[in-house]
Amino acid sequence: MGETIKAVLVGCGGISDAWLGPISKRDDIEMVGLVDLNPEAAKVKGEKYSFNAQTGNDLAAMLEKTKPDVVFDCTIPEAHVDVVLTALKYGAHVLGEKPMADTMENARKMTAAAEAAGKIYAVIQNRRYLPQIIAVRDFIKSGKLGKLTTVQSNFFIGAHFGGFRAEMDHVLLLDMAIHTFDAARFLSGTDAEKVYCHEFNPSNSWYRTGASAVAIFEMTNDVVYTYQGSWCAEGCNTTWECDWRFICEKGSLLWDGRDSIRAEVVDDSNEFIKAEISVEVDFKELPEELAGHSGLIADFVEAVKTGTPPQTVCTDNIKSLAMVHAAIGSVEAGRKIDVE
Ligand SMILES: NC(=O)c1ccc[n+]([C@@H]2O[C@H](COP(=O)([O-])OP(=O)(O)OC[C@H]3O[C@@H](n4cnc5c(N)ncnc54)[C@H](O)[C@@H]3O)[C@@H](O)[C@H]2O)c1
Repeated sequence: MGETIKAVLVGCGGISDAWLGPISKRDDIEMVGLVDLNPEAAKVKGEKYSFNAQTGNDLAAMLEKTKPDVVFDCTIPEAHVDVVLTALKYGAHVLGEKPMADTMENARKMTAAAEAAGKIYAVIQNRRYLPQIIAVRDFIKSGKLGKLTTVQSNFFIGAHFGGFRAEMDHVLLLDMAIHTFDAARFLSGTDAEKVYCHEFNPSNSWYRTGASAVAIFEMTNDVVYTYQGSWCAEGCNTTWECDWRFICEKGSLLWDGRDSIRAEVVDDSNEFIKAEISVEVDFKELPEELAGHSGLIADFVEAVKTGTPPQTVCTDNIKSLAMVHAAIGSVEAGRKIDVE
């Protein structure tokens, strides 16, 4: 692999700016092609970032013409399977938007195709690349609060998107909760084993279905993780990163999803309520090029150059996706079910 990686990006909609901005600042990625079902959208992005890239609406033809090393997939969830399989079949490494796939069957096909092709397929989980989440993960892992027993996250945002989300089935679980479920695995260092989920569409919902959900996960290491979320909650919004509580055997940690991280341990007295002692949890800002989408793109480029898989490689990310699809399976079955 040379120093400059040739890339094609497919899906030139809203999120593609979070990719094309950082890519335009790197001198080791050459954008050779931009693809969208609407070729005008591809042209507009090419001009916006002054890429000397070809534009079109046919991915397979673009791959043959431009011979990229990597494909960036920013299409809608239902299109990810076709885009990723086409790119892997051609012989490119792929970094794609979340969620990995619309079904577990498709996710398994994609993982198997990446393994068979000997190529990296990794998924964007940009919330892992925040300084605060890394600090919380490291602090919980340090054991200063004792063993982790319970995790709770709240996600309440009134997001008026329109577009594909307004009509999508299980919109909150499939299009948003993947971020939170992946963060729960990342923060707790555990994986999900069982789930019970109740999904509903509040009376004011502007989504066709499934804008709110409550899920209880039984995780490995006896951790219980509770998720509450809504994409049609007006007022008092949480952050997109959620509001979190971690309960450990000797103390707790609260993170508001922004800069407030508060931890307390208790003393070893025999009082009815033990004294709570604050513990400082520091975090250092990440340089712009290592945060969010930029950080993931940087790790992916490094992985392509060195062959070392990035942390969001498909064989790991499928475990976060399995939480989404098991939650949906529980909604459909109306009972607690196993997470694959
Ligand atoms: N990581 C994040 O924080 C984050 C934030 C928003 C969206 N997303 C994800 O990004 C993806 C795209 O979301 P968006 O908000 O940009 O949607 P969007 O509707 O704004 O854009 C999607 C684009 O993909 C194109 N497209 C669809 N199917 C295609 C296909 N088969 N071939 C070529 N082009 C195709 C559409 O024409 C459209 O231009 C989704 O998977 C979404 O979940 C991630």
